[in-house]
Amino acid sequence: MGGGPSSSSGSTSTSSEGIPSECYKQAREEFDSRYLTPATFQIAYRDFQIIRPLGRGAFGSVKEVKYIRDPIPDYLQRTNSTDLTITSTRVALKIINKTSAHKMKQEEHVVNEKRILQALNFPFIIRFYFSFKDNANLYIGLELIEGGELFRHLRDSERFDEKKAKFYASQIILALEYLHLLGIVYRDLKPENLLIDRYGYIKMCDFGFAKKIDRGKAYTLCGTPEFLAPEIILGRGYNMGVDYWALGVLIFEMNAGYSPFWDADQQKIYHKIINAKFRPRSSFTDHLTDVVRGLLQKDLTKRLGMMFNGVNDIKKHPWFRDIDWLHIFLKKLRAPWIPDIRINNFPDAEDEEPARSSVNLHEKEFSDF
Ligand SMILES: Nc1ncnc2c1ncn2[C@@H]1O[C@H](COP(=O)(O)OP(=O)(O)O)[C@@H](O)[C@H]1O
Ligand SMILES: [Mg+2]
Repeated sequence: MGGGPSSSSGSTSTSSEGIPSECYKQAREEFDSRYLTPATFQIAYRDFQIIRPLGRGAFGSVKEVKYIRDPIPDYLQRTNSTDLTITSTRVALKIINKTSAHKMKQEEHVVNEKRILQALNFPFIIRFYFSFKDNANLYIGLELIEGGELFRHLRDSERFDEKKAKFYASQIILALEYLHLLGIVYRDLKPENLLIDRYGYIKMCDFGFAKKIDRGKAYTLCGTPEFLAPEIILGRGYNMGVDYWALGVLIFEMNAGYSPFWDADQQKIYHKIINAKFRPRSSFTDHLTDVVRGLLQKDLTKRLGMMFNGVNDIKKHPWFRDIDWLHIFLKKLRAPWIPDIRINNFPDAEDEEPARSSVNLHEKEFSDF
């Protein structure tokens, strides 16, 4: 988004919480035009050297790869904030096995993932470079994020102090605000899908469940059990509110070190969620407990983020009082933790050979990819 939010002191010609309305308009226009006419790319798997595995996806894998041809295409080059051209020959390649995605009836989700990702542009969302397909697989080339998953950092730290949890939460809130502005519901907020970049800031990845619903509703039961909002489980249709519920689960988990509705039995998880039954940790400050309660609110008309003032009710909540939203947006603050990127921060990822096929599999189902 162009200029981004301004500090709570306010500025002229702003719509809400200090964000110039021009920024909203511009972000939406840019997204809409890219979403309507997705770009295509002349590139193939053999143009890359495989460096290391990064992760395992539901229908394939993610690998660090290096582009080895000359000349380097312009979509691997970008200009940074100080007008320097950066060429990224090392990228993260998400490989999706067409047969697996087809078996799980995920064709539409995978097509959505690419169409949405290629149109987004936001500091806390993974950057898309290119996509292509071959007989067996679909491929998405993404900005390589070296710091590992928030999941791993949280597990290693057991839990975060409130200041650190708030630093991460604030970036996720800005990312959700941007997505919701575009009419997109994210549906898979969890620490595994949040990466930490070399500066210690968040990059949201995995748009496998993201969907453009605008003012409508979605009905599909998808996401991760502990993060599902009650209205998803109840199957009566849902909207952007599910992302704010998941944000409540995430803020709880970052501060407590465990999930609010955790149970070994999935049915019991659902039971606890439907009854919004959770107990804040005794160490939580009152403001933290209050923001979590506001987000984990069963009644959508009372859930933080879903009332008249929208996301501004979250941004202005006392727990976020010391957050300067513009400084966060512009990445002006030093992050509470900077990952060591000389080491492999994806040690649990397993290597996996991509599938091959001599015939073009499921060509029709994936024609829009
Ligand atoms: N751009 C990236 N840079 C570094 N690691 C990544 C990147 N994208 C994904 N990963 C790693 O791969 C894992 C799986 O990718 P993801 O998109 O979440 O796949 P899935 O939809 O199957 O969950 C992520 O949790 C992360 O650890
Ligand atoms: Mg994922």
